[in-house]
Amino acid sequence: MANNLLKGKKGLIFGALDEHSIAWKIAEKAHAEGAEFVLSNSPIALRMKDIYQLAKKTNSQVIAADITEVSELEDLFEETMQILGGKIDFILHSVGMSPNVRKNIPYHELNYDYLEKTLDVSAISLHKVLAVAQRLDAINDWGSVVTLSYIAAQRTFSSYSDMAHAKAMLESIVRQFGYHYGVNKKIRINSISQSPTRTTAGAGVSGFNAFFHYADDMSPLGNATSDSCADVCVTMFSDYTKMITMQNIYNDGGFSSMGISNKLIEKFIDCGCKE
Ligand SMILES: NC(=O)c1ccc[n+]([C@@H]2O[C@H](COP(=O)([O-])OP(=O)(O)OC[C@H]3O[C@@H](n4cnc5c(N)ncnc54)[C@H](O)[C@@H]3O)[C@@H](O)[C@H]2O)c1
Repeated sequence: MANNLLKGKKGLIFGALDEHSIAWKIAEKAHAEGAEFVLSNSPIALRMKDIYQLAKKTNSQVIAADITEVSELEDLFEETMQILGGKIDFILHSVGMSPNVRKNIPYHELNYDYLEKTLDVSAISLHKVLAVAQRLDAINDWGSVVTLSYIAAQRTFSSYSDMAHAKAMLESIVRQFGYHYGVNKKIRINSISQSPTRTTAGAGVSGFNAFFHYADDMSPLGNATSDSCADVCVTMFSDYTKMITMQNIYNDGGFSSMGISNKLIEKFIDCGCKE
């Protein structure tokens, strides 16, 4: 069901690792809607080689960059503009990683060097991307930047650990940079808070299956898939959402407005728990 929503638009997509990545689905849908873009990921991720299948499918080029390295981002933006023949219209920031989560370190014993890495990769990298883009004047007026968040920015999810801090900071950068880039260049910046989704990053969170099924049972519409996230992203990159900026948009089937659902009541009512 493509509608040419992004015909003539050029972009830069960070974070497609394999076919389960949310960024992968977004790239496929952006391509189907007529966009041209460059794909970027870290040098380590490119060694997995899956991204080259996506590049082939979407007729795009791949450029390696560690998103935490400003000099690599500068080169990436210069090259992207050369390849696409000018400034871009949209950026997808779909990047996150916590060494504390990966290594299963309990929250109350966080390794602070790892915490810095978590914040740098998962939140500050958005600031770096935006700062470099603004400095190089790489985004056309009314361009759109989207990043991916999770409701642990607002609420406590016991095993989400320091990624919760990263998401809170990420959403704060969306608002702060959204103001400055909006005033300076009419660029809009938003985050999409996505349901638990089976991906490499998602599966790294301890108890991911519980996150997934609990949210699915709680949400009136069930969990939002990465395909539905791609639909929202494409709309956010299009000219139909020009006045939306500095927002955190929940693509979560209604989870964020819920307290308890009948499905969960039914599960606990006969659980044998004492009154
Ligand atoms: N999967 C979920 O349940 C879920 C839910 C809500 C939000 N999100 C967010 O969606 C985004 C994408 O994650 P995903 O679930 O698609 O998993 P994923 O593992 O497919 O994507 C994470 C990406 O970050 C990239 N990355 C890590 N370090 C990097 C670096 N230094 N430089 C450049 N790239 C780097 C990885 O290579 C990978 O492509 C993340 O921000 C994640 O927190 C995921």
